[in-house]
Parts: sequence; structure tokens; C-alpha cells
Amino acid sequence: MKITILTGAGISAESGLGTFRSTDGLWAKYDLAKVATPEAFNRDPAMVHEFYNLRRKACIEAQPNPAHFALAELQRASPNVTIVTQNVDDLHERAGAKVLHMHGELMRARCVKCDRRWEAPVRMSAGDLCDCGAAARPDVVWFGESPYFIEEITHAVRGSDLFVVIGSSGKVYPAAGFVQIADKARVDTLEINLERNGQVFDRSIVGPATQTVPEWVRGLI
Ligand code: OAD
Repeated sequence: MKITILTGAGISAESGLGTFRSTDGLWAKYDLAKVATPEAFNRDPAMVHEFYNLRRKACIEAQPNPAHFALAELQRASPNVTIVTQNVDDLHERAGAKVLHMHGELMRARCVKCDRRWEAPVRMSAGDLCDCGAAARPDVVWFGESPYFIEEITHAVRGSDLFVVIGSSGKVYPAAGFVQIADKARVDTLEINLERNGQVFDRSIVGPATQTVPEWVRGLI
């Protein structure tokens, strides 16, 4: 069975990394326009770097949880499992999974000009430069920018037997539109979330990811 899985901040919540849209989430504490847009970086690179430095530090201190490990196990058990994540943390990889980071990676840096990419230092600063002399930025996708791997992901979703969304509010496009793409292609859809996210799925499993995801994976393999 071909399965495509999309994960969001909810899968890393029990590893201690905050989600975005809960009442105490990141977007309640920070003004998105001031830290997660290309305009913000042009205006105040030091502030944007500081925001991502804090997030990188939290990510380094966090550990993958049973949900990350279960998905890695599922992928080892079946060659037909594609995992796509909106998360910029590296907890899927540290659990042993291979994932497509559609919103980029906190642990990578890239040049604003030549698009060269490299491993980010723990702390980036406004003085960091690429070899070409242009500024270095976190390799994360900001609002107003195009997410990575969209064609590849759309192709995988359409060609799946099952499309699963884990721990995402379904508020940010294009990721939020994958369930409609799956539905149109008559792919079975499943939501695994702490609460129903309001989008239409064929089936839902409600509860904390560290319990629901390992149980679901056990049922499959
Ligand atoms: P959100 O913060 O919008 O949603 C997190 C979802 O996870 C919510 O539906 C929660 O109910 C659910 N959740 C919370 N704790 C959970 C748990 N323990 N187990 C299972 N589910 C849980 O995060 P995303 O949907 O990932 O983009 O946000 C999508 C994008 O919006 C992010 O990638 C980021 C953000 O702005 C960019 O920065 C480009």
C-alpha cells in the first residue's frame, strides 16, 4: 500500500517544541510579519536570526518522541511510505526517517543570492555571509515564498492509496490543500490529531500523537 504522510507542529508538541496556533503558540508570542517574511529579514536581519536561533536551540535540546520513531519504523517496514513535513525541526531524521521538508530546515543555512546551502551554525548572525559575499539566512520558507518539493509531493499524494495528516491545523496552503487533491484523486484520507482540525477526511483518530501514531502504525505492520 502506498502511503503519503504530512506532519505538522503537533507531532513535535510532546517533544517540547511549541505549535503555532494554540493560545500560547508561537504566533501568539511573535508577530509573524516581523520574523517570518523576506521583508522582515531585509528590515531587521538580527531580529529574524534571533527568533530562529532560539528555535534552533530548542530543537537541539528536544528529542524525537514515540510518534517520530513509529513513522520511521513504518518507513523501514514499507518502501512505499513518503513522509512530508511542514516542520523545520530535525526530529523525524533523528528518529531515523527520511522526510521531505516542504518548509525548509532550521539546521540549514542558505545564501540570499546564489541559493547555496550549508549546515547552519547553532547561532546565526546578521554578519554571516555566503562564500559569494551575500548574506546568509536560515533555510526556512517564509510567508510569501514558495514551499519546496511541491510537484513531488503532489505527485506522491495523487499516487497514494492513503493520505494521512498528523498534527496539523490545516490552515496554511499549499499543505492545507493536499487533502482536497487526495480526495479528488479518490485517495483514502486519514487525520490523526489532538482534535478534529475542521477539514474533511474519510477517517479521524483523535488524541495525542505519542499514543495515536504508534497505535496506528502497530495496526498496519
Ligand atoms: P499549527 O500550530 O497550526 O497546528 C498544530 C496542530 O497540531 C493543531 O491542529 C493541534 O490541535 C495539533 N496538536 C497539538 N498537540 C498535539 C499532539 N500532542 N498530538 C497531535 N496533535 C497535536 O501547526 P501546523 O499546522 O504545523 O509555517 O502549521 C503549519 C505552518 O504554519 C507551519 O509549518 C508554519 C506555520 O506558520 C511556516 O512558518 C511557513
